Amino acid sequence: MENLLVRPYEAGDAGATWQVFHAAVRGTASRDYTPSQIAAWAPDVVDEGRWQRRRSAARTFVACQGGVVAGFSDFTDAGVLDMLFVHPDFGGRGVARALVGRVLREAAAAGHSRLLVHASLTARPAFERFGFVVDASRVAEIGGQRLANFDMSIDLVRADGVPN
Ligand SMILES: CC(C)(COP(=O)(O)OP(=O)(O)OC[C@H]1O[C@@H](n2cnc3c(N)ncnc32)[C@H](O)[C@@H]1OP(=O)(O)O)[C@@H](O)C(=O)NCCC(=O)NCCS
Repeated sequence: MENLLVRPYEAGDAGATWQVFHAAVRGTASRDYTPSQIAAWAPDVVDEGRWQRRRSAARTFVACQGGVVAGFSDFTDAGVLDMLFVHPDFGGRGVARALVGRVLREAAAAGHSRLLVHASLTARPAFERFGFVVDASRVAEIGGQRLANFDMSIDLVRADGVPN
């Protein structure tokens, strides 16, 4: 996508990133999970302070198109890519690829040799395109709902290049 800027998360991004998360789960991920599972995963009410702390605790990156936040991703000190969400209005245009490329480069530069992700049914094909492999199927418990997902990982040392 032209003019897509990927930059570090800033404190003022809390509201926009939450909107992206909510729209991505309620819109895109709803094709793979039941309405009850979706409502538990992305409730309508957010604790913005907690959201802000969690985004700031990780190395979070934001993708912007014309000043609008289109998506975001991150990695933690524990070597986990915790979040990857793209607003449905910007879906299928390489926003996730740009974000994950940045995350993989930054994680490698920070000394990580491997990155893990708990990938949703919706995101698994994208992570596979980025070079992640499925290590195990699992069930996540969120708000009393059980959601199928996958433990996936990528070897940052042996990876022959990261996606552009
Ligand atoms: C998964 C998600 C982040 C992808 O974002 P996106 O910006 O639309 O993805 P991109 O346009 O960068 O596409 C990524 C790659 O995955 C591929 N892809 C995506 N969905 C696919 C599918 N269902 N089947 C096959 N390939 C798929 C694309 O073709 C693309 O491959 P390419 O770059 O080699 O052509 C987005 O759909 C989303 O936010 N989903 C809902 C929330 C979610 O489940 N997040 C993950 C939590 S772990």
